[in-house]
Amino acid sequence: MIKFTVTQGSLTEVVCDALVVNLFEGVTHPGGGTGAVDRSLDGALTQLIAEEDFKGKLGQTAVLHSCGRIPAKKVILVGLGKAQDFTTEGVRRASGAAAKKAAKLNVKKVCTILHGAGIGGLDPAECALALVEGAALGTYKFLKYKTVEPKPLSLEEVEIVEMDAGKIPAIREGVAKGEITSDATIFARDLINDTSNVITPTALAETAQQIARENGLECQVMDVDQIQSLGMNLLLAVAQGSAQPPKFIVLKYSAPGAKRTVAIVGKGITFDSGGLSIKPSEGMEYMKDDMSGAAAVLAAMRAISRIKPGANVLGLAPATENMPSGGAVKPGDVVRSFAGKTVEINNTDAEGRLILADALAYAVKQGAEEILDVATLTGACVVALGRAISGVMSNNRELVNRLISIGEKEGDLVWELPLYKDYEELLKSDIADIKNSPGREAATITGGLFLQEFVGEVPWAHIDIAGPSFLEKSAFTSPKGGSGAGTRILVRYLMELQDSR
Ligand code: BES
Ligand code: MN
Ligand code: ZN
Repeated sequence: MIKFTVTQGSLTEVVCDALVVNLFEGVTHPGGGTGAVDRSLDGALTQLIAEEDFKGKLGQTAVLHSCGRIPAKKVILVGLGKAQDFTTEGVRRASGAAAKKAAKLNVKKVCTILHGAGIGGLDPAECALALVEGAALGTYKFLKYKTVEPKPLSLEEVEIVEMDAGKIPAIREGVAKGEITSDATIFARDLINDTSNVITPTALAETAQQIARENGLECQVMDVDQIQSLGMNLLLAVAQGSAQPPKFIVLKYSAPGAKRTVAIVGKGITFDSGGLSIKPSEGMEYMKDDMSGAAAVLAAMRAISRIKPGANVLGLAPATENMPSGGAVKPGDVVRSFAGKTVEINNTDAEGRLILADALAYAVKQGAEEILDVATLTGACVVALGRAISGVMSNNRELVNRLISIGEKEGDLVWELPLYKDYEELLKSDIADIKNSPGREAATITGGLFLQEFVGEVPWAHIDIAGPSFLEKSAFTSPKGGSGAGTRILVRYLMELQDSR
């Protein structure tokens, strides 16, 4: 874990292995902190721009040796892209690119300019948060199973250096928040990247218990008998084809004096083979990521002792594998849900909505007044929104607006799809109250409509993270593999929770 610090001072005076400065695209004579460093280096940066064709494209880097002209040994110049396009996401990406470069150079301590801090309209606290996230998340690696030449991260400390003393408190606040969101995302990534033979429902439950112990939360893990006696038959139906026993994980945070309770719910399918409606073998190995929603919920609950939100929070994770044994649920079977509605399971691969339906109904029964669920629910959402954006569906305008704005601040993007009422007809079953798989058309929306059947009138939002949860190509702030999508939305949502007594 990288240590982040903030100092008031001058970039040309700080001692470190590498100093990070920045440049907008098209600028030939740098100003501000970068300009000061350039002057101390006798115009070496200006020279580089003129001769070496450093264009300043977002994330582009160049390295110079200071040759003793400033205390920093090296200077990493990072491009910010066009000034008019620059947002806090630019800060995150530039920071990620610079940190990756520093790591490549085997650097231990970096001092850095705060990208975006001098730009009108950008909040220094948000810039600091994004800088921390960029460096912490951009340099993430999952090395658990590398026994040959595991190269641990060299980067130990990133120090933000700011001249303007007036900005320091906001920067410190942003750094503190960014450490929480980054730690949580890394925790989620580690769970997602680990494999399904290790991260079983039982292992997820043990992780939850450890989180509870370390953070003063209540934890209840329901085993198969308790799940049965509660009547969570949809969760049982999904689990019955697997040799691994299911768990229903309940974490509880009680805010001192708070009356209101919100619930966050995560899909915890530790491996999705599709069940008897089995998936094609190509790409099936990625289905270890089908517990990404549960990982986000556990990570957010783990962060709660540092967030101390102003409302009680229930963290729920129904956890099971979806497997096709001789005892597996069969297409066409009808099962009575925890809420009482009967469901025809016409496709065993639409299992996420089944386990979530019981968990959502449980949250309602526990008196949750606002519910968020996070799930790798539909392949159709990957087709609709790609790998960078999650889908959000909600019965509450204010809540969905809040989530879109949080997503934008966190670079954990969500885009709304409509819970179009006429499509409810697609859920009709000939034999039961509803069926779980209405078919290919509007498949993300019908997933949301199915879940909506189980939340009653409670304000609720469903976030379909199927696209961004697992990357097959590295991005600026996420390497290949589990991205932790949805985690930062949940953490930031908890940070912004106000208690309305
Ligand atoms: N876990 C999958 C969704 C998924 C697919 C996530 C690809 C990430 C990448 C989910 O359980 C599933 O199989 N959904 C089905 C639903 C369908 C049968 C209605 C799907 O999307 O095909
Ligand atoms: Mn499935
Ligand atoms: Zn699934």
